[in-house]
Amino acid sequence: MSSEATTAKGDPGPILIPSNDLEACIADLGSRITNDYQGRAPLLVGVLKGAFMFMADLARAIELPVEFDFMAVSSYGSSTRTSGVVRIVKDLDLDLAGRDVILVEDIIDSGLTLNYLRKNLAARNPDSLEVCALLVRKGRQHEDLDLRYVGFEIPPDFVVGYGLDVGERYRQLPHICQYQPNSNTQK
Ligand code: IMP
Ligand code: MG
Repeated sequence: MSSEATTAKGDPGPILIPSNDLEACIADLGSRITNDYQGRAPLLVGVLKGAFMFMADLARAIELPVEFDFMAVSSYGSSTRTSGVVRIVKDLDLDLAGRDVILVEDIIDSGLTLNYLRKNLAARNPDSLEVCALLVRKGRQHEDLDLRYVGFEIPPDFVVGYGLDVGERYRQLPHICQYQPNSNTQK
């Protein structure tokens, strides 16, 4: 049945950004990065776990010899709110000194996580440090975050899919969905 089909992968709510829009946007971000970093080999730093899918697709849209590293952070607070107190759960393997670093984030909400990470990475003396965020939640940031590359600005609703989770679920969805806890039976 069609209702079964639309929830076959566990979509928890209406689709906000379909996969073809993600693809087109990421192709565009990739070509902007390719142009901006001509002659250089940027180091993409992905913030686990949410950015893993975006990072994989973004890297394939960049026509430069990119390198990869990952960090994992956890912020204290409830599952749908960040507290701004960030703990590094996995640190980078590579030295950032002299590198052109692009911090790759899934979503900027309050911007507290990003603020912390930017200061932390800047203290490691990279040649340059820019941010590439797939999603920015409109009107939630209280300081200017200086985001060089942004995919989509989204409304206040919590979202999942394409790497983003709630309680570790829905990361595998190929699109970004609104999260409506009651719209799908919790298995
Ligand atoms: P911030 O510190 O408030 O900017 O929160 C950023 C982090 O909170 C992101 O890296 C995500 O891990 C998480 N987050 C914020 N909004 C959402 C959402 O709508 N879905 C899933 N995770 C989210
Ligand atoms: Mg997260």
